Amino acid sequence: MCGIVGHLGPQNSVESVIEGLKRLEYRGYDSAGVSFVDETNHLKVFKKTGKIENLQKILEEQNISARSCIGHTRWATHGEVNDTNSHPHSKNELSLVHNGIIENASELRDGLLKKGYEFNSKTDSEVFLALVVDHVENGFELIDAIIATYKIVKGHSAFVILNGKTGEIFAIKSGAPLVCGINTVSSEVLVSSDPYALAGMVDKIYFPEDKVLCHLSVGNTNLLNFYELDKEKSKRYLSKKQDMVHDPADKGDFEHFMLKEIHEQPELIRSLTQFYFQGEGRDSLEKARQMDFSKVHITACGTAYYAGLVVRDYLEKFNKISCSPELASEFRYREPLIKPNELGLFISQSGETADTLAAQALCKEAGLKTLSLVNVEGSTLFRDCTENLLIRAGVEIGVASTKAFTQQVLTGRIFSASLNEEFQNESFKVEMTKKFALLAQRVDELLARSEEIKEVAESIYNYEGFFFTGRGVYFPVALEGALKLKEIAYVHAEGYAAGELKHGPIALIDEQKVNIAIVGPELFEKALSNVQEIKARKGVIVTIGPRGNKEAEELSDYYIPLDFEGLDELSPLYVNVVNQLLSYYMAKFKGTDIDKPRNLAKSVTVE
Ligand code: F6R
Repeated sequence: MCGIVGHLGPQNSVESVIEGLKRLEYRGYDSAGVSFVDETNHLKVFKKTGKIENLQKILEEQNISARSCIGHTRWATHGEVNDTNSHPHSKNELSLVHNGIIENASELRDGLLKKGYEFNSKTDSEVFLALVVDHVENGFELIDAIIATYKIVKGHSAFVILNGKTGEIFAIKSGAPLVCGINTVSSEVLVSSDPYALAGMVDKIYFPEDKVLCHLSVGNTNLLNFYELDKEKSKRYLSKKQDMVHDPADKGDFEHFMLKEIHEQPELIRSLTQFYFQGEGRDSLEKARQMDFSKVHITACGTAYYAGLVVRDYLEKFNKISCSPELASEFRYREPLIKPNELGLFISQSGETADTLAAQALCKEAGLKTLSLVNVEGSTLFRDCTENLLIRAGVEIGVASTKAFTQQVLTGRIFSASLNEEFQNESFKVEMTKKFALLAQRVDELLARSEEIKEVAESIYNYEGFFFTGRGVYFPVALEGALKLKEIAYVHAEGYAAGELKHGPIALIDEQKVNIAIVGPELFEKALSNVQEIKARKGVIVTIGPRGNKEAEELSDYYIPLDFEGLDELSPLYVNVVNQLLSYYMAKFKGTDIDKPRNLAKSVTVE
C-alpha cells in the first residue's frame, strides 16, 4: 500500500527519494509525488497519477537539485485517484505525506471548514496538515503544532512533514510502520514506511515506537533525534537497531520477481532447518517451545491464513493441541473466546497487516502469550509479539506471495516438532532435516519440468472458470492455488474441499470449467471419486496426482504426475509449487502485470 520516503543530506535528495519510492513500487500504488526544498530555498511539489516514471519524467525536465525531500506513493482510500489527492499536500511552506487512515477526519475537517480553512483535496491526510497549519497560525512552534495535532487524530497512521523554510523533516506514527536510518559515512539521513527503501543507503536503522517524534536535520550534531511527546529526548528510540545489508532485489535471469521467488524455494527450504537446529534461530525456537499453552488461536490474512490451515493440521496431528485458525479480519470483531493460558499465533510475511496486528493486540489485551511466524524482522508484529519465529524467506517483491507461504508452513512444522519430547533427540532433527532436503530436491525437479506445466497452462488459460479441489492436507493448498490464480491472472477461481462440491458448486460445472484436482496419497480414493463427479458433468480435468497411477491419468484431460514418496506432511508444499507455476504461466499467457497485479498492494496496512 502507500509508501513514504524522506531524505536529507548532501546528495541530491530528490534522486534518493525516487530511488526509495521505486523500491516500494511492489507494495502497489496509483499515484506518486515529491516535495523538496530547492536551491532557492523554496518548497516545490510535483505529483502525478500512474507510475513513478510519469513523475520522474516531469522532474527530469526541471533539472532539480535539492537538499531535503519527502515522497509518497499513494494507494487511494479517501478520495479518487487524481493529481490533487496525491501526496504530498502542502500549505504555507509545509508539506506532508501520510500512510494510514485518520478515522475522525470528517469531524475534524468540518471544524476546520467552519474556521474558513480551504482544502485542496478530498483526502483525510490533508486534515492533518490543516491542523498543523492552524496551530502554527495560532502561535505554536512547528514541533508543538505537530505534537498537538498528533494527539487529536485517531486511527493507525504514519505522518512525515517537511519544513520548507529549514529543510528539516519530522516523522511520527501510531500503529503504522515507520523506520529511520543514517548513513554515517555520507551524513545522509532517511525516513521511510518500509526498511526495504533504505537498504544499502544507510548503515544504521531505527524503528521508532508510537508517540515518538523523529526529527531529521542537518547542521545539528545529531542528524536524527527522537523525542517523547513532551519533547523529552526519547530513551526508547533504539527499539531495534540493525545494520542493513544491501539487497539489490535484482530479477537476475528471470522475467518476473514472482518466477524468481518461486525458484528460490529449494534453497530457502534447505537452510531453514540449519537456522533453527544449529544456527541463530535456536534461541528463538527454544523460547517459543517454552511457552506453555492449552490451545492455539491462529490468525492471519490471505495466503498467510491458508498457511495457518496447514499449521493447524500439524499442531493437531503431531501435538494433539486444539487449534482454531481464523481470518484476522473476522477474529478481531467477533468477541472470540480466548483465555490467558492459550496461545495467539500470528502468521504474516510483512508483519504489518492491519487486521493481523489488531488480532494480536486483542489477544495481548486478553492476557494471551503471542507468537509470530513472520518474515520481516523488526516489523510491528515482530515487535509486539511475546516471541517470534522468523520464516527466513528473504525479501518478497512479487505481490503474490509464493516463497513466504512455503516458509510459513515449514516454520510452523518446525515449531510443532519442537513441542514434542522427541525433539530433544538429535536423530529426530536429522530425520527432519532430511525430509526438508527431500522436499527441496523434489521442488528442484519440479522446477526443471516447468515447460510441461507451462504447456498445460497454455491449454487451459482461456476457460471460463477454475475449481481447485483437494481433501485433507491438500484442501488449504487448493484454496491457495485459487487465490494465486485469481490475483495474478484475473480469472474466476475457487478453492474447494473436494467433498463439498456436490453440496452446491457442482451446479456450475460444464465444459467451460476446469477442475484442478489435487489427488495426493492422503484420501486418494475419495478425492478421485470427486474427480469422477466432475468428469461426468463434462468439466475439464487437470489432475495433480501420484506418478504412475493409470486410473487417475485416464480420468484426466491433463495429468501432472508427482513423486510424493517420503514427503508425508510436507507434500502440500510440493503440490503448491505446481499451483504457483500454473498461475504464473496462465497469467503470462493472459498478459497481466504479474508482479504488480491490479488493485492489489503487497502490504495491507489498512483494514
Ligand atoms: C496473496 C497475498 C496476500 C497476503 C495477505 C497477508 O498472494 O500475498 O493474501 O498473504 O495480504 O499479508 P501478510 O502475510 O504480509 O500479513
